[in-house]
Amino acid sequence: MSKSRKSLLAAAAASLLALPAHAQGDPDNGAQVFKKCLACHAVGENAKHKVGPHLNDLFGRTAGGLGDYKYSNAMHEAGENGLVWEDETLHDYLADPRGAVKGTKMAFAGLKKEDELRDVVAYLRTFSSEDAAATGASPVSGQEPEPTPQSDAPDVAATEPAAAQAVAAAGGTATEPGVGLAYGLGRRATEDEVAAWDIDVRPDGMGLPDGSGTVGEGDMLFQEQCASCHGVFGEGAGRWPVLAGGQGTLTDERPEKTIGSFWPYLSTVFDYIRRAMPFGNAHSLTDDEVYALTAYLLYMNDVVADEEFELSKENFSEIELPNAANFIDDDRDSEPHYAAKADPCMRDCKDTPAEIVMRARILDVTPGSVDDDGAGAGAVD
Ligand code: HEC
Ligand code: HEC
Repeated sequence: MSKSRKSLLAAAAASLLALPAHAQGDPDNGAQVFKKCLACHAVGENAKHKVGPHLNDLFGRTAGGLGDYKYSNAMHEAGENGLVWEDETLHDYLADPRGAVKGTKMAFAGLKKEDELRDVVAYLRTFSSEDAAATGASPVSGQEPEPTPQSDAPDVAATEPAAAQAVAAAGGTATEPGVGLAYGLGRRATEDEVAAWDIDVRPDGMGLPDGSGTVGEGDMLFQEQCASCHGVFGEGAGRWPVLAGGQGTLTDERPEKTIGSFWPYLSTVFDYIRRAMPFGNAHSLTDDEVYALTAYLLYMNDVVADEEFELSKENFSEIELPNAANFIDDDRDSEPHYAAKADPCMRDCKDTPAEIVMRARILDVTPGSVDDDGAGAGAVD
């Protein structure tokens, strides 16, 4: 809890000393109760409307009184008929939202426990400056009580579970994206989020973004951002991956598999860089930069010879990597070795009942174990 709110609460507590604690409610407990509301309501600094309106300066506010939030007609009517949010009216609304305001679109079953009701109302009051002033609860300095910053509000991470609870309590009628899905967990991804994930590029070029970049531009970028690990010419610094060379080594005992010697498709190069590089700072490159770096890797791998070469969405799928032809469809069923064999058995393959003949712990699968009691040191128990 922030200092400001602590002192505010202290001041509030002091000014209410004469009253029995339970009648006033405990704002700290109320913060816990408010987790049930967090899925739909924000309070505190910079609070915005969520599914429901923000609840700052609620006390003394006419029901349905915020101009920039779209209430139900029922809530507007309640306000026009004189409903103003105070201890009592909040208590009744939160105990039974649909009973108190027939037709409200607040999909919340209501709080059934008296102490929860009192506590959450006390908590909300700490975000109402009008009321705080009226009850003399401002901090001693006489400043307006600062609304609690959002980060100080009850655990924001609790929002999603709270949504689930709220929906369960409401009989699963909430319509906010995600809330009310089968398990009431999470929320639907936004279009921006989906777009950020949807970056795969297919060998035929499908999925490529607009853009282009030249070998020269790629060279500059590569020296700045990649050479520290992959070497100036892609030869690999230390034991970091080698990105160029290795042509003709695939049949060696230690083949050097690089983009030029092994990789079948340029789309993988583009996709890999765009998705994962530079290592530790993934997704920091623009699309044009990824085109330029891919062009430079083509150049280093002798796939293009022209330093002026520009790779773009348009000419991308014309490029063929040297080893592409050696990747073939897996048709091993037609190979003599496999073709001779019958279809693999997938069920009831053993004539006799299965029998356990050895246990890993006795088998002692750890080489060099000196344990002689039968259980190898690292054996699977
Ligand atoms: C599932 C979403 C949801 C949950 C959970 C929820 N509310 Fe609401 N709340 C709403 C919506 C939507 C409205 C607007 C109702 C209308 O226009 O009829 C609303 C309205 C309100 C209002 C009236 C505000 C005004 O400006 O007139 C108050 C007060 C309120 N809620 C408090 C709470 C509290 C406190 C809790 C938790 C105990 C809670 N709500 C839980 C969605 C929710
Ligand atoms: C901090 C070191 C580091 C930097 C900087 C870095 N990379 Fe990498 N790169 C790696 C590592 C580590 C791998 C292997 C990752 C793995 O296998 O999971 C890799 C793999 C790659 C591969 C795939 C290699 C293969 O054969 O599997 C490419 C292509 C690549 N990086 C390109 C780049 C480009 C382009 C940049 C600059 C924008 C860059 N990297 C910057 C560390 C780095």
